[in-house]
Amino acid sequence: MFLPQEVIRRKRQGEVLNDQDIRDFIAGVTNDTVSEGQIGAFAMAVYFQGMDINERIALTCAMRDSGDVMDWSGDNLSGPILDKHSTGGVGDVVSLMLGPMIAACGGFVPMISGRGLGHTGGTLDKLDSIPGYTTSASEALFRKVVKDAGVAIVGQTGELAPADKRIYGIRDVTATVESIGMITASILSKKLAEGLDALVMDVKVGSGAFMPTFEQSVELAESIVQVANGAGVKTTALLTDMNQCLASSAGNAVEVREAVRFLTSEYRNERLLEITMAQSAELLVSGGLAESLEQAREKLLTVLDNGKAAEVFGRMVHGLGGPADFVEKYDDYLPKASIIKPVYLEADGFAAAMNTRDVGLSVVQLGGGRKVSADSIDYAVGITEICRLGDRIDPSRPIAILHASSEDSWDQAAAMLRNAITVADQSPEINPMVYSLP
Ligand code: URA
Repeated sequence: MFLPQEVIRRKRQGEVLNDQDIRDFIAGVTNDTVSEGQIGAFAMAVYFQGMDINERIALTCAMRDSGDVMDWSGDNLSGPILDKHSTGGVGDVVSLMLGPMIAACGGFVPMISGRGLGHTGGTLDKLDSIPGYTTSASEALFRKVVKDAGVAIVGQTGELAPADKRIYGIRDVTATVESIGMITASILSKKLAEGLDALVMDVKVGSGAFMPTFEQSVELAESIVQVANGAGVKTTALLTDMNQCLASSAGNAVEVREAVRFLTSEYRNERLLEITMAQSAELLVSGGLAESLEQAREKLLTVLDNGKAAEVFGRMVHGLGGPADFVEKYDDYLPKASIIKPVYLEADGFAAAMNTRDVGLSVVQLGGGRKVSADSIDYAVGITEICRLGDRIDPSRPIAILHASSEDSWDQAAAMLRNAITVADQSPEINPMVYSLP
Protein backbone atom coordinates (compact mmCIF):
# COMPACT_ATOMS: atom_id res chain seq x y z
CA MET A 1 0.00 0.00 0.00
CA PHE A 2 1.29 3.47 -0.90
CA LEU A 3 0.98 6.11 1.83
CA PRO A 4 2.57 9.44 0.87
CA GLN A 5 3.17 10.36 4.52
CA GLU A 6 5.23 7.19 4.97
CA VAL A 7 7.45 8.07 2.01
CA ILE A 8 7.84 11.60 3.40
CA ARG A 9 8.61 10.28 6.91
CA ARG A 10 11.27 7.89 5.61
CA LYS A 11 12.94 10.61 3.58
CA ARG A 12 12.74 12.99 6.56
CA GLN A 13 14.63 10.36 8.61
CA GLY A 14 17.33 10.18 5.96
CA GLU A 15 16.38 6.83 4.45
CA VAL A 16 17.11 6.08 0.81
CA LEU A 17 13.86 5.72 -1.15
CA ASN A 18 13.46 2.93 -3.67
CA ASP A 19 12.27 3.17 -7.24
CA GLN A 20 8.71 2.15 -6.38
CA ASP A 21 8.39 4.74 -3.55
CA ILE A 22 9.40 7.47 -5.98
CA ARG A 23 7.21 6.24 -8.85
CA ASP A 24 4.18 6.03 -6.51
CA PHE A 25 4.80 9.48 -5.12
CA ILE A 26 5.15 11.08 -8.57
CA ALA A 27 2.06 9.22 -9.84
CA GLY A 28 0.19 10.75 -6.89
CA VAL A 29 1.55 14.19 -7.76
CA THR A 30 0.35 13.77 -11.34
CA ASN A 31 -3.14 12.45 -10.55
CA ASP A 32 -3.66 14.85 -7.62
CA THR A 33 -3.95 12.17 -4.93
CA VAL A 34 -0.86 13.61 -3.20
CA SER A 35 -1.74 16.97 -1.66
CA GLU A 36 0.06 20.28 -2.00
CA GLY A 37 1.08 20.05 1.69
CA GLN A 38 2.57 16.61 1.13
CA ILE A 39 4.55 17.80 -1.89
CA GLY A 40 5.87 20.75 0.15
CA ALA A 41 6.86 18.42 3.01
CA PHE A 42 8.50 15.96 0.59
CA ALA A 43 10.47 18.81 -1.03
CA MET A 44 11.65 20.03 2.39
CA ALA A 45 12.69 16.50 3.41
CA VAL A 46 14.66 16.13 0.17
CA TYR A 47 16.13 19.61 0.64
CA PHE A 48 17.61 18.61 4.02
CA GLN A 49 18.38 14.92 3.46
CA GLY A 50 19.34 15.01 -0.23
CA MET A 51 18.97 12.14 -2.67
CA ASP A 52 21.61 9.72 -3.87
CA ILE A 53 22.20 9.20 -7.60
CA ASN A 54 19.81 6.23 -7.89
CA GLU A 55 17.03 8.20 -6.22
CA ARG A 56 17.69 11.13 -8.56
CA ILE A 57 17.54 8.83 -11.59
CA ALA A 58 14.25 7.34 -10.36
CA LEU A 59 12.82 10.82 -9.70
CA THR A 60 13.92 12.09 -13.13
CA CYS A 61 12.46 9.09 -14.98
CA ALA A 62 9.19 9.19 -13.01
CA MET A 63 8.78 12.91 -13.70
CA ARG A 64 9.71 12.46 -17.38
CA ASP A 65 7.10 9.70 -17.71
CA SER A 66 4.37 11.78 -16.00
CA GLY A 67 3.52 13.27 -19.42
CA ASP A 68 4.27 12.89 -23.13
CA VAL A 69 7.63 11.42 -24.10
CA MET A 70 8.56 11.97 -27.73
CA ASP A 71 9.51 8.98 -29.85
CA TRP A 72 11.32 9.67 -33.12
CA SER A 73 11.72 6.05 -34.23
CA GLY A 74 8.86 6.31 -36.74
CA ASP A 75 10.25 9.45 -38.41
CA ASN A 76 13.16 7.71 -40.17
CA LEU A 77 15.59 10.49 -39.35
CA SER A 78 19.05 10.03 -40.82
CA GLY A 79 20.99 11.20 -37.76
CA PRO A 80 20.97 11.30 -33.97
CA ILE A 81 18.52 13.35 -31.88
CA LEU A 82 20.55 15.96 -30.00
CA ASP A 83 19.95 18.95 -27.77
CA LYS A 84 21.54 21.28 -25.28
CA HIS A 85 20.32 22.97 -22.15
CA SER A 86 21.70 25.96 -20.31
CA THR A 87 21.04 27.02 -16.74
CA GLY A 88 20.43 30.48 -18.19
CA GLY A 89 22.35 33.68 -18.56
CA VAL A 90 22.49 37.18 -20.00
CA GLY A 91 23.19 37.49 -23.72
CA ASP A 92 23.15 33.69 -23.92
CA VAL A 93 21.95 33.31 -27.50
CA VAL A 94 23.91 30.09 -28.09
CA SER A 95 20.84 27.93 -28.90
CA LEU A 96 20.01 30.01 -31.98
CA MET A 97 23.35 29.15 -33.54
CA LEU A 98 24.04 25.73 -32.02
CA GLY A 99 20.76 24.23 -33.28
CA PRO A 100 21.37 25.12 -36.95
CA MET A 101 25.09 24.26 -36.72
CA ILE A 102 24.33 20.77 -35.36
CA ALA A 103 21.60 20.25 -37.97
CA ALA A 104 23.97 21.34 -40.75
CA CYS A 105 26.39 18.64 -39.52
CA GLY A 106 23.77 15.87 -39.71
CA GLY A 107 22.08 15.94 -36.28
CA PHE A 108 18.40 16.56 -35.51
CA VAL A 109 17.56 19.08 -32.81
CA PRO A 110 14.02 19.10 -31.37
CA MET A 111 14.62 21.94 -28.92
CA ILE A 112 11.86 22.71 -26.46
CA SER A 113 12.83 25.97 -24.79
CA GLY A 114 11.53 28.30 -22.14
CA ARG A 115 10.79 31.96 -21.56
CA GLY A 116 12.94 34.43 -19.65
CA LEU A 117 13.16 33.88 -15.91
CA GLY A 118 14.21 36.67 -13.52
CA HIS A 119 17.31 38.37 -14.90
CA THR A 120 17.97 35.70 -17.56
CA GLY A 121 16.68 35.87 -21.11
CA GLY A 122 14.54 33.16 -22.71
CA THR A 123 15.07 31.61 -26.13
CA LEU A 124 11.33 31.64 -26.89
CA ASP A 125 11.03 35.37 -26.16
CA LYS A 126 13.93 36.03 -28.53
CA LEU A 127 12.34 33.98 -31.34
CA ASP A 128 8.97 35.64 -30.76
CA SER A 129 10.53 38.89 -32.00
CA ILE A 130 10.58 37.38 -35.53
CA PRO A 131 7.31 38.32 -37.29
CA GLY A 132 5.20 35.23 -38.04
CA TYR A 133 7.43 32.74 -36.16
CA THR A 134 5.30 30.53 -33.97
CA THR A 135 6.84 29.26 -30.77
CA SER A 136 3.57 27.48 -29.91
CA ALA A 137 3.67 24.98 -32.76
CA SER A 138 1.54 21.83 -32.86
CA GLU A 139 3.42 18.57 -32.40
CA ALA A 140 2.83 17.79 -36.09
CA LEU A 141 4.45 21.05 -37.21
CA PHE A 142 7.30 20.62 -34.72
CA ARG A 143 8.04 17.15 -36.11
CA LYS A 144 7.80 18.38 -39.69
CA VAL A 145 10.28 21.23 -39.17
CA VAL A 146 12.71 18.97 -37.27
CA LYS A 147 12.55 16.55 -40.19
CA ASP A 148 12.79 19.17 -42.98
CA ALA A 149 15.21 21.70 -41.49
CA GLY A 150 16.97 19.48 -38.93
CA VAL A 151 16.12 21.84 -36.09
CA ALA A 152 13.03 23.42 -34.57
CA ILE A 153 13.00 25.60 -31.48
CA VAL A 154 9.55 25.92 -29.91
CA GLY A 155 7.74 25.96 -26.56
CA GLN A 156 6.06 22.91 -25.04
CA THR A 157 3.97 21.05 -27.61
CA GLY A 158 2.03 18.58 -25.47
CA GLU A 159 2.05 17.90 -21.76
CA LEU A 160 5.70 17.69 -20.93
CA ALA A 161 6.58 16.49 -17.42
CA PRO A 162 3.41 17.83 -15.72
CA ALA A 163 4.64 16.46 -12.37
CA ASP A 164 7.57 18.88 -12.56
CA LYS A 165 5.23 21.78 -13.22
CA ARG A 166 3.24 21.02 -10.06
CA ILE A 167 6.28 20.31 -7.89
CA TYR A 168 8.21 23.36 -9.14
CA GLY A 169 5.28 25.68 -8.33
CA ILE A 170 5.29 24.36 -4.76
CA ARG A 171 9.09 24.42 -4.38
CA ASP A 172 9.00 28.03 -5.49
CA VAL A 173 6.78 29.07 -2.55
CA THR A 174 8.23 26.74 0.10
CA ALA A 175 11.91 27.82 -0.15
CA THR A 176 12.97 24.43 -1.53
CA VAL A 177 14.17 25.27 -5.05
CA GLU A 178 17.85 25.14 -4.08
CA SER A 179 18.26 21.39 -3.92
CA ILE A 180 20.72 19.91 -6.41
CA GLY A 181 18.78 16.63 -6.57
CA MET A 182 15.48 18.30 -7.35
CA ILE A 183 17.00 20.83 -9.78
CA THR A 184 18.63 17.92 -11.63
CA ALA A 185 15.35 15.99 -11.90
CA SER A 186 13.40 19.11 -12.84
CA ILE A 187 15.72 20.09 -15.70
CA LEU A 188 16.28 16.57 -16.99
CA SER A 189 12.67 15.36 -16.80
CA LYS A 190 11.73 18.00 -19.39
CA LYS A 191 14.78 17.55 -21.62
CA LEU A 192 14.66 13.75 -21.61
CA ALA A 193 10.98 13.87 -22.63
CA GLU A 194 12.24 15.10 -26.03
CA GLY A 195 13.42 11.53 -26.76
CA LEU A 196 17.12 12.42 -27.11
CA ASP A 197 20.17 10.34 -27.99
CA ALA A 198 22.59 12.87 -26.50
CA LEU A 199 22.56 16.11 -24.54
CA VAL A 200 25.10 18.77 -23.64
CA MET A 201 24.50 20.79 -20.53
CA ASP A 202 25.84 24.31 -20.11
CA VAL A 203 26.10 25.18 -16.42
CA LYS A 204 26.89 28.85 -15.92
CA VAL A 205 29.34 30.15 -13.36
CA GLY A 206 29.64 33.72 -12.08
CA SER A 207 27.79 36.95 -11.35
CA GLY A 208 24.91 36.24 -13.74
CA ALA A 209 24.58 32.51 -13.02
CA PHE A 210 21.63 30.67 -11.50
CA MET A 211 23.86 28.69 -9.09
CA PRO A 212 25.37 31.07 -6.53
CA THR A 213 28.87 29.56 -6.20
CA PHE A 214 31.44 27.80 -8.38
CA GLU A 215 31.27 24.73 -6.12
CA GLN A 216 27.50 24.46 -6.50
CA SER A 217 27.77 24.86 -10.28
CA VAL A 218 30.26 21.98 -10.30
CA GLU A 219 27.96 19.89 -8.12
CA LEU A 220 24.99 20.52 -10.44
CA ALA A 221 27.03 19.72 -13.56
CA GLU A 222 28.26 16.43 -12.07
CA SER A 223 24.77 15.51 -10.88
CA ILE A 224 23.24 16.16 -14.31
CA VAL A 225 25.91 14.13 -16.11
CA GLN A 226 25.53 11.11 -13.80
CA VAL A 227 21.73 11.17 -13.74
CA ALA A 228 21.20 11.72 -17.47
CA ASN A 229 23.68 8.98 -18.37
CA GLY A 230 22.02 6.75 -15.74
CA ALA A 231 18.72 7.42 -17.47
CA GLY A 232 20.22 6.30 -20.80
CA VAL A 233 21.05 9.60 -22.55
CA LYS A 234 24.69 10.26 -23.37
CA THR A 235 25.38 13.56 -21.63
CA THR A 236 28.34 15.83 -20.99
CA ALA A 237 28.43 19.18 -19.23
CA LEU A 238 30.51 22.32 -19.57
CA LEU A 239 30.94 25.00 -16.95
CA THR A 240 30.99 28.33 -18.75
CA ASP A 241 31.63 31.87 -17.64
CA MET A 242 28.76 34.22 -16.82
CA ASN A 243 30.83 36.93 -15.12
CA GLN A 244 29.95 39.17 -18.04
CA CYS A 245 27.29 39.34 -20.73
CA LEU A 246 28.01 36.48 -23.16
CA ALA A 247 27.05 38.08 -26.48
CA SER A 248 27.61 41.73 -27.39
CA SER A 249 23.89 42.29 -26.93
CA ALA A 250 21.16 41.43 -24.43
CA GLY A 251 17.45 41.58 -25.17
CA ASN A 252 15.23 39.87 -27.71
CA ALA A 253 15.31 41.29 -31.27
CA VAL A 254 18.85 42.55 -30.63
CA GLU A 255 20.04 39.03 -29.79
CA VAL A 256 18.29 37.53 -32.83
CA ARG A 257 20.09 40.14 -34.94
CA GLU A 258 23.41 39.12 -33.38
CA ALA A 259 22.64 35.42 -33.99
CA VAL A 260 21.95 35.99 -37.70
CA ARG A 261 25.05 38.13 -38.11
CA PHE A 262 27.04 35.36 -36.38
CA LEU A 263 25.68 32.69 -38.71
CA THR A 264 26.30 34.76 -41.84
CA SER A 265 29.86 35.68 -40.73
CA GLU A 266 28.91 39.37 -40.63
CA TYR A 267 30.01 39.72 -37.00
CA ARG A 268 31.15 37.14 -34.44
CA ASN A 269 31.81 37.98 -30.82
CA GLU A 270 34.77 35.72 -29.92
CA ARG A 271 33.40 34.70 -26.51
CA LEU A 272 30.13 33.69 -28.09
CA LEU A 273 31.99 31.81 -30.82
CA GLU A 274 34.16 29.93 -28.32
CA ILE A 275 31.27 28.87 -26.09
CA THR A 276 29.01 27.93 -29.00
CA MET A 277 31.80 25.88 -30.58
CA ALA A 278 32.67 24.16 -27.29
CA GLN A 279 29.10 23.02 -26.68
CA SER A 280 28.41 22.08 -30.28
CA ALA A 281 31.61 20.05 -30.52
CA GLU A 282 30.71 18.07 -27.37
CA LEU A 283 27.35 17.28 -28.90
CA LEU A 284 28.73 16.14 -32.27
CA VAL A 285 31.10 13.74 -30.49
CA SER A 286 28.42 12.41 -28.09
CA GLY A 287 26.06 11.94 -31.04
CA GLY A 288 28.68 10.02 -33.04
CA LEU A 289 28.88 12.69 -35.77
CA ALA A 290 32.56 13.37 -35.08
CA GLU A 291 35.36 11.20 -33.74
CA SER A 292 37.09 13.88 -31.71
CA LEU A 293 36.50 17.42 -30.49
CA GLU A 294 39.06 18.65 -33.07
CA GLN A 295 37.23 16.97 -35.93
CA ALA A 296 33.93 18.31 -34.61
CA ARG A 297 35.30 21.86 -34.55
CA GLU A 298 36.46 21.53 -38.15
CA LYS A 299 33.02 20.38 -39.26
CA LEU A 300 31.33 23.18 -37.33
CA LEU A 301 33.58 25.87 -38.78
CA THR A 302 32.92 24.50 -42.26
CA VAL A 303 29.12 24.80 -41.92
CA LEU A 304 29.49 28.27 -40.45
CA ASP A 305 31.82 29.50 -43.17
CA ASN A 306 30.05 27.89 -46.15
CA GLY A 307 26.68 29.35 -45.10
CA LYS A 308 25.00 25.98 -44.49
CA ALA A 309 24.19 26.76 -40.85
CA ALA A 310 22.68 30.13 -41.83
CA GLU A 311 20.60 28.37 -44.50
CA VAL A 312 19.29 25.87 -41.92
CA PHE A 313 18.34 28.74 -39.60
CA GLY A 314 16.41 30.36 -42.46
CA ARG A 315 14.61 27.09 -43.18
CA MET A 316 13.63 26.70 -39.54
CA VAL A 317 12.32 30.28 -39.35
CA HIS A 318 10.29 29.87 -42.54
CA GLY A 319 9.05 26.41 -41.52
CA LEU A 320 7.70 27.87 -38.29
CA GLY A 321 5.88 30.72 -40.05
CA GLY A 322 8.54 33.44 -40.36
CA PRO A 323 9.57 35.23 -43.57
CA ALA A 324 11.31 33.13 -46.26
CA ASP A 325 14.00 35.81 -46.67
CA PHE A 326 14.55 36.48 -42.97
CA VAL A 327 18.29 35.74 -43.02
CA GLU A 328 18.85 38.14 -45.93
CA LYS A 329 16.54 40.89 -44.66
CA TYR A 330 16.54 40.46 -40.87
CA ASP A 331 17.06 44.17 -40.37
CA ASP A 332 13.84 44.99 -42.22
CA TYR A 333 11.83 42.49 -40.16
CA LEU A 334 13.07 42.88 -36.59
CA PRO A 335 11.39 45.56 -34.47
CA LYS A 336 13.47 48.61 -33.52
CA ALA A 337 13.19 50.76 -30.41
CA SER A 338 12.28 54.44 -30.74
CA ILE A 339 15.24 55.63 -28.64
CA ILE A 340 18.69 54.23 -29.40
CA LYS A 341 21.49 56.09 -27.60
CA PRO A 342 24.96 55.36 -26.18
CA VAL A 343 25.59 55.22 -22.42
CA TYR A 344 28.78 56.76 -21.00
CA LEU A 345 30.46 56.26 -17.66
CA GLU A 346 32.34 59.11 -15.91
CA ALA A 347 35.43 57.07 -15.12
CA ASP A 348 38.90 56.33 -16.43
CA GLY A 349 40.46 52.89 -16.38
CA PHE A 350 39.48 49.35 -17.30
CA ALA A 351 36.20 47.44 -17.03
CA ALA A 352 37.22 45.20 -14.12
CA ALA A 353 33.96 43.53 -13.07
CA MET A 354 30.39 43.29 -14.26
CA ASN A 355 27.37 42.54 -12.14
CA THR A 356 25.82 40.47 -14.91
CA ARG A 357 22.62 39.86 -12.97
CA ASP A 358 22.03 43.63 -12.87
CA VAL A 359 22.76 43.89 -16.60
CA GLY A 360 19.97 41.34 -17.12
CA LEU A 361 17.70 43.27 -14.78
CA SER A 362 18.32 46.46 -16.76
CA VAL A 363 16.86 44.65 -19.80
CA VAL A 364 13.83 43.75 -17.65
CA GLN A 365 13.62 47.41 -16.60
CA LEU A 366 13.51 48.42 -20.28
CA GLY A 367 10.54 46.07 -20.78
CA GLY A 368 12.54 43.30 -22.50
CA GLY A 369 11.79 40.80 -19.70
CA ARG A 370 8.99 40.15 -17.23
CA LYS A 371 8.63 41.38 -13.66
CA VAL A 372 5.70 38.98 -13.18
CA SER A 373 4.90 36.06 -15.45
CA ALA A 374 1.77 37.72 -16.93
CA ASP A 375 3.76 40.76 -18.21
CA SER A 376 4.02 41.26 -21.96
CA ILE A 377 7.39 41.95 -23.54
CA ASP A 378 8.74 44.76 -25.67
CA TYR A 379 10.82 42.80 -28.19
CA ALA A 380 12.63 45.85 -29.57
CA VAL A 381 14.36 47.06 -26.41
CA GLY A 382 17.71 45.91 -25.09
CA ILE A 383 21.43 46.55 -25.03
CA THR A 384 23.98 46.32 -27.83
CA GLU A 385 27.76 46.82 -28.04
CA ILE A 386 28.13 46.20 -24.32
CA CYS A 387 31.73 46.59 -23.14
CA ARG A 388 33.74 43.55 -22.12
CA LEU A 389 35.90 42.99 -19.09
CA GLY A 390 39.36 44.39 -19.77
CA ASP A 391 38.07 47.10 -22.14
CA ARG A 392 39.40 50.63 -21.67
CA ILE A 393 36.77 52.90 -20.16
CA ASP A 394 36.80 56.68 -20.35
CA PRO A 395 34.08 59.34 -20.51
CA SER A 396 34.30 59.56 -24.32
CA ARG A 397 33.68 55.84 -25.05
CA PRO A 398 30.22 54.33 -24.68
CA ILE A 399 29.92 51.34 -22.35
CA ALA A 400 26.90 50.20 -24.38
CA ILE A 401 24.08 51.34 -26.65
CA LEU A 402 20.67 51.26 -24.98
CA HIS A 403 17.50 50.65 -26.99
CA ALA A 404 14.45 51.98 -25.09
CA SER A 405 10.83 52.89 -25.67
CA SER A 406 10.91 56.11 -23.57
CA GLU A 407 13.44 58.60 -22.20
CA ASP A 408 12.40 57.66 -18.70
CA SER A 409 13.07 53.94 -19.08
CA TRP A 410 16.32 54.74 -20.93
CA ASP A 411 17.47 56.87 -17.95
CA GLN A 412 16.62 54.19 -15.41
CA ALA A 413 18.26 51.38 -17.36
CA ALA A 414 21.34 53.53 -18.05
CA ALA A 415 21.76 54.18 -14.30
CA MET A 416 21.50 50.43 -13.60
CA LEU A 417 24.02 49.63 -16.30
CA ARG A 418 26.54 52.22 -15.06
CA ASN A 419 26.25 50.75 -11.55
CA ALA A 420 26.75 47.24 -12.89
CA ILE A 421 30.26 48.01 -14.22
CA THR A 422 33.25 48.39 -11.90
CA VAL A 423 36.18 50.37 -13.26
CA ALA A 424 39.73 49.86 -11.93
CA ASP A 425 43.18 51.23 -12.73
CA GLN A 426 44.48 47.80 -13.69
CA SER A 427 43.18 45.50 -16.38
CA PRO A 428 41.60 42.52 -14.58
CA GLU A 429 42.58 38.91 -14.91
CA ILE A 430 40.01 37.46 -17.28
CA ASN A 431 38.26 34.24 -16.26
CA PRO A 432 38.42 31.31 -18.64
CA MET A 433 35.39 31.00 -20.95
CA VAL A 434 35.10 27.29 -20.29
CA TYR A 435 36.19 26.04 -16.85
CA SER A 436 37.48 22.53 -16.42
CA LEU A 437 35.59 20.30 -14.03
CA PRO A 438 37.87 19.71 -11.00
N1 URA B 1 15.19 25.23 -13.83
C1 URA B 1 14.31 24.20 -13.81
O1 URA B 1 13.74 23.84 -14.84
N2 URA B 1 14.09 23.57 -12.64
C2 URA B 1 14.69 23.92 -11.48
O2 URA B 1 14.45 23.29 -10.47
C3 URA B 1 15.58 24.99 -11.52
C4 URA B 1 15.83 25.63 -12.71
